[in-house]
Amino acid sequence: MARSSVTRVLVLHGPNLNLLGSREPAVYGRTTLAEIDRRIRRHAASRRAEAVCRQSNHEGQLIDWIQAAAGEGFGAIVINPGALTHYSLALRDAVAAVSVPVVEVHLSNIHGREEFRRHSVIAAAARGQIAGFGTGSYLLGVDAALESAASGRPRR
Ligand code: DQA
Repeated sequence: MARSSVTRVLVLHGPNLNLLGSREPAVYGRTTLAEIDRRIRRHAASRRAEAVCRQSNHEGQLIDWIQAAAGEGFGAIVINPGALTHYSLALRDAVAAVSVPVVEVHLSNIHGREEFRRHSVIAAAARGQIAGFGTGSYLLGVDAALESAASGRPRR
């Protein structure tokens, strides 16, 4: 039987992103996480891919999902690590450890915000970073992740 050509993309949301819709709407908007996930899945389907979206407030859970992604059949990962972006070396090491391409995304433009948000410890281990486009950051992230998965290009 021919293997399915559908690429599965794992989309991970980190701490506090479950509160989207009511959390600091001036920064993050009023769109809920459920609605963002719906848009991500629809966008992936339009690219003949499948997106599976998960959220956790726990660093270890995110690391477990990253480590298990290839075994679960995912060809790429898109992650918004939330505040873990700025200090989680354990998450950074997980991203560096896997061969599945990982794209880092942020709703807000972290480079135009408080000083502590301007540095990502994840970015250097990821294929790249997309920030500042709201829900669009995830959709662009899916495109970048699919492109990375299809090119088979090594990390750098
Ligand atoms: C965020 C930016 C982070 O600094 C913040 O801690 C978040 C959300 C974003 O998507 O803009 O939780 O990752």
